[in-house]
Amino acid sequence: MEALAIAPAKTILFGEHFVVLGKPAIAMAIGLYAYVSVKEFTHGIHVESTKLNSLNRKSLKPIKLATQSTLDYLGISRVSLKIDINSFIPIGVGLGSSAAVSVATIAAITRFFGIDLDRKKIHELAFIPEKEIHGKPSGIDQTTSIYGGIIFFKPNKGFERIPCEELQLIIGNTKITRSTKTLVNRVKELLDKNKDYVIKLQESYESLYDEAIKAIKLKDFNKIGELMIKNHELLKKLGVSHEILDKFVEKAIEAGAFGAKLTGAGGGGCMIALADKERMNRVAEALCEIGGEVIIANIDKEGVRTKILRGNLLEY
Ligand code: PMV
Repeated sequence: MEALAIAPAKTILFGEHFVVLGKPAIAMAIGLYAYVSVKEFTHGIHVESTKLNSLNRKSLKPIKLATQSTLDYLGISRVSLKIDINSFIPIGVGLGSSAAVSVATIAAITRFFGIDLDRKKIHELAFIPEKEIHGKPSGIDQTTSIYGGIIFFKPNKGFERIPCEELQLIIGNTKITRSTKTLVNRVKELLDKNKDYVIKLQESYESLYDEAIKAIKLKDFNKIGELMIKNHELLKKLGVSHEILDKFVEKAIEAGAFGAKLTGAGGGGCMIALADKERMNRVAEALCEIGGEVIIANIDKEGVRTKILRGNLLEY
């Protein structure tokens, strides 16, 4: 018997960094996934991940933490498990790969033991490895990966999940990896040094957020795009963009996108662009031409899900 879980990546549509400062943000789960399989093993707990193993053994630590916290929660101590991680989410570029892997690991382990874990509890357990990796994360990454769809996220208060049919984003990966922790600290240093300046940016962001909520509910893509560009400018002023990201954003707009912005912690990593169907390929090509790795991502509406595989039989 084998338990399988898949959990989606996320993009932040509005509010990265501001969310760490306590402001609300908007994220969207996308159809790029981390797959985790859990089965019995001969001795001990063996974690394998094709991608992470090749980086270094230390990168497996958060997965081990997710595993241990889940087993502790379940009250299981003597067990032998083989945990296989197969993630198609690029690492360290702002798409929430660590959260998706942790969420899928927790869900697969609990399903293996016959428990359909409450999503709130998955959220709580996923915070343990997320804190190990990112320091003081807002929790938006695992929330989006667990619930799917578009999430209006209020730190320490909860979230609203809005139903949304089809939505596609063009993701431009600069392939410049960076650390979320370092960038979050950079903003904190700026806040310590120049509080008034950061508060002004926060105020501008708050009114932008209110407009973004309305535009998303109305599916006003022109307005969403315009607000994405404004959000990117605010992030530039916070000091978390990168010249390549700025170039990607500029090119996407030139190629006809409604708007574009960095997504995630910035400092490299990915940007996102919104365009109508006719211009989507043109935007994607423009980003490829300047060296971007491009993904056209659909919304994921479900969030984490699990299955049991018994021989050739799949149980939902
Ligand atoms: O780049 P990522 O996927 O780690 O996203 C970071 C988003 C931040 O707002 C910068 C941090 C957070 O915890 O919300």
